Amino acid sequence: MTEAATPQSVLVPLTEAAIFLVVTVDEGGEDVARELLADLSGLTRAVGFRSLEDSLTCVAGIGAGAWPRVVGGDAPSGLHPFREIAGRKHTAVATPGDLLFHLRARRMDLCFELATLISGRLAGAVTVVDEVQGFRYFDQRDLLGFVDGTENPTGAGAAAAVLSDEPGFEGASYVIVQKYLHDMDAWNALPTEEQERVIGRRKLSDVELSDAEQPANSHVALTTITDDDGEEREILRDNMPFGRPGAGEFGTYFVGYAAHPDVTEQMLVNMFVGRPPGNYDRILNFSVAVTGGLFYVPTVDALDGLADPPSPTPATDASLNVGSLRRSDAS
Ligand code: HEM
Repeated sequence: MTEAATPQSVLVPLTEAAIFLVVTVDEGGEDVARELLADLSGLTRAVGFRSLEDSLTCVAGIGAGAWPRVVGGDAPSGLHPFREIAGRKHTAVATPGDLLFHLRARRMDLCFELATLISGRLAGAVTVVDEVQGFRYFDQRDLLGFVDGTENPTGAGAAAAVLSDEPGFEGASYVIVQKYLHDMDAWNALPTEEQERVIGRRKLSDVELSDAEQPANSHVALTTITDDDGEEREILRDNMPFGRPGAGEFGTYFVGYAAHPDVTEQMLVNMFVGRPPGNYDRILNFSVAVTGGLFYVPTVDALDGLADPPSPTPATDASLNVGSLRRSDAS
């Protein structure tokens, strides 16, 4: 019997700082990428151990395009390229990305140091397609001024929401990221009561609007989804504000972890297409999604296992020469 594999640091408390790094792997850069992934837990320890109380973590995600090139073998069932979702008015765009690094800590310098080490190791082997430094804003608010993250699952509920039980991939997760830019002038022109009807919660107290007050096109209404048995389907979010006030840039980097990406995808359909179609999320009138990516988050054991790919077989099938992220191979 194999021991349970250790998930990456998906289930960690919200932090003050984060860096989101998305790269594509250049042709010929596969070995460098694989070796970095195998060394990631060691690199994270090397930086984080210098200030343990600041809780540095780094989650690595692998995109569908990178799987056969960097990992090989059977892919987990939920891994596919992020699918663009086009509503009548707003579109959730799909943008390139082979690897995602989600670094979190209580201090930006730790994230920065680790991102520097990762980038250094990957130099010449990858192209950086997006890099965002996020910060925690007043009492966990996003730049729209609302407390963000309140209804996240906690404890056993959070673990159930994000950890896969697919045979061979137990303990892994999926993550969807999107970078949103806000039209702050339009948003600030709305009276607070109207902003509350867009989000579905009170701005100051963070209390959810009552059923009678809750508009069908509020963000909360459209992202609350249930399965056939009426059970709520949840994801774990750790959105981060980012921006450059001098350049007029104000954004939210959305990050949503789930045991299977179809949960987050259903929320996105509700937001962009609408439930029913046409009844789309009003938050999108003030927020444009400029990136979109879906990544598989292997367990720590599986990542570490990439250092020792199965003995190369003198075969023509290149995929036999690379490690597999299946838990059974890693343990
Ligand atoms: C709830 C902000 C994008 C899923 C919320 C809340 C805020 C918020 C303020 C209410 C407090 C809370 O429970 O966290 C934003 C902003 C976004 C964004 C500023 C980007 C512009 C998304 C996306 C998804 C999502 C893309 C999923 C695909 C959820 C869920 C809830 C939520 C599941 C909790 C609903 C509930 O059970 O009450 N969001 N969000 N959000 N959001 Fe978002």
